[in-house]
Amino acid sequence: MNNIVSHKFQVDRANRNKLKGHKSFVLWFTGLSGSGKSTLANMVEKRLYDIGIHTFSLDGDNIRGGLNKNLGFSREDREENLRRIAEVAKLFVDSGNVVIASFISPLASDRNFIREIIGEKDFLEVYVNTPLEVCESRDVKGLYKKARSGEITNFTGIDAPYEPPINPSIEVKTNIEDAEESVSRIISLIKSKLEIT
Ligand code: PPS
Repeated sequence: MNNIVSHKFQVDRANRNKLKGHKSFVLWFTGLSGSGKSTLANMVEKRLYDIGIHTFSLDGDNIRGGLNKNLGFSREDREENLRRIAEVAKLFVDSGNVVIASFISPLASDRNFIREIIGEKDFLEVYVNTPLEVCESRDVKGLYKKARSGEITNFTGIDAPYEPPINPSIEVKTNIEDAEESVSRIISLIKSKLEIT
């Protein structure tokens, strides 16, 4: 950061939080492909929107198709993918929004540096714990079949690792719990952090 001096703006995060009437932070969904991250994220965002909370969702569609379209699924590319997303999430937190991020984020080391970039106090981790067999049997996008046949490589859970979080803020088991139940538990957690005014 040579010769970069940050400017102090008159309107800051605290002002924006006051204007919006609630705190801002990141809710980060991690889990295998097909685990249900985006489905839950979408339901959570709608529930928050309905009670007047300012949100913004980050997921594969708006990130890997644009900002990160030059990145693939090698170890290095995933790390860069997640680093950029964490930085973007941090900006949106500064803008006063509750950020809902849904990315596989497969390694503990990835999630540690995401937490470091965003800051511990602004980071809630949601572990979408759906067994590989269930994700594979859903195979919504047909990618597990391609990974098994070798048509695609470095696929999480098949020939690339997924390290489950050890101490997530909340864990949901989509094959045991009803989605509405999971969402309600996540909403309770969020509400405890929102400090709605
Ligand atoms: S990561 O690991 O956090 O950088 O991955 P992410 O940005 O969340 O992208 C995951 C989605 O990309 C599709 N896809 C793959 N996933 C895992 N491994 C490989 N090799 C791969 N290739 C493509 C897959 O559909 C993931 O979508 P979700 O929504 O998780 O099912």
